[in-house]
Amino acid sequence: MEVKRERFKAKKITTGSKSLDELLGGGVETKTITEFFGEYGTGKTQICHQLAVNVQLPEDKGGLEAKAVYIDTEGTFRWERIDQMSRALGLDPDKVMENIYWIRAINSHHQMAVVEKLFDMMARDNIRVVIVDSLTGHFRAEFPGRENLALRQQLLNRHLHQLMRLAEIYDAAAIVTNQVMARPDMFFGDPTAAVGGHVVGHAPGVRVQLRKSRGNKRIARVVDAPHIPEGETVFAITEYGIRDSEG
Ligand SMILES: Nc1ncnc2c1ncn2[C@@H]1O[C@H](COP(=O)(O)OP(=O)(O)OP(=O)(O)O)[C@@H](O)[C@H]1O
Ligand SMILES: [Mg+2]
Repeated sequence: MEVKRERFKAKKITTGSKSLDELLGGGVETKTITEFFGEYGTGKTQICHQLAVNVQLPEDKGGLEAKAVYIDTEGTFRWERIDQMSRALGLDPDKVMENIYWIRAINSHHQMAVVEKLFDMMARDNIRVVIVDSLTGHFRAEFPGRENLALRQQLLNRHLHQLMRLAEIYDAAAIVTNQVMARPDMFFGDPTAAVGGHVVGHAPGVRVQLRKSRGNKRIARVVDAPHIPEGETVFAITEYGIRDSEG
C-alpha cells in the first residue's frame, strides 16, 4: 500500500530558493500547472530556466533526475544562462543542455501543436517539466481586444487542458508564465490584462504573483490556491540563478 501511495503522490521540484519552495509547499508540484505572473523583469523567465536545470538534479537535491521541455514563445531562452546555472550547481553544463528540449514556438497554433506532440515523448524521454514561456503572449497578439476574447479564451482553455493532461498522465510539472501590466488601466482594450491575467484563473493549479523589490530581490505571493496558505516571501535573482535573498 505504501508503495502504491508513493506512486500517486505529486512530487516537488526545487526553485533554487528555500523560501520560495516553502511558499509553494516544497517546490513546484508535478501533476499540476503552476503559473508565474507579473510585470516585465519580475523573474518569470529566470525561474523557468532554473526549473529546466533543477529537474535534472537527483531527488535528494530537489530534482527528479529527469528532462525538461522549454517552449519559448518570445525568444528569450538563453543557453548561456543554462550554462551559468549548471556550473553554479556543480553540474556538467553540456549534459544539462542535452536534457533540455528547447522549442521556439512561432505562433499560438504552433505553441498548441507542440504540446499535442509531447504526449508521444514524455515517457520515452523521461520529461518531467514542461515550460511555456510565455503562455499568453501569442494569444494576446493574435486575438486582441474584446471582440476576440471568446475565441482567445476558448483556445487558451484547450491549451491549458492539454497541459493539465500532460502533467497528470506523466507526473510532470507544467510551468507557464503570464506577463501582466503594471497599469491595466492603460490597456483598456484588453480585458485579460485588466484582470491581472485571469486567463488561467479557472484552470486547476497554483498561481504565483511576482513583484519587484529592491535590486535583485523579488516578492512572490501565492493567490487563489485553496491547498496552499496565502502569504508572501522574498527571493533573489543572482548570477548563479534563483536563490534566497540575503538580509
Ligand atoms: N545572468 C544574470 N545574473 C543576474 N541577474 C540576471 C541574469 N540574467 C537575468 N537577470 C535578471 O533577471 C531579471 C529579468 O528577469 P526575467 O527575464 O525572468 O523577467 P520576466 O518576468 O520574464 O520579464 P518579461 O515579462 O519581460 O518576460 C532582470 O532583473 C535581470 O537583471
Ligand atoms: Mg520573460
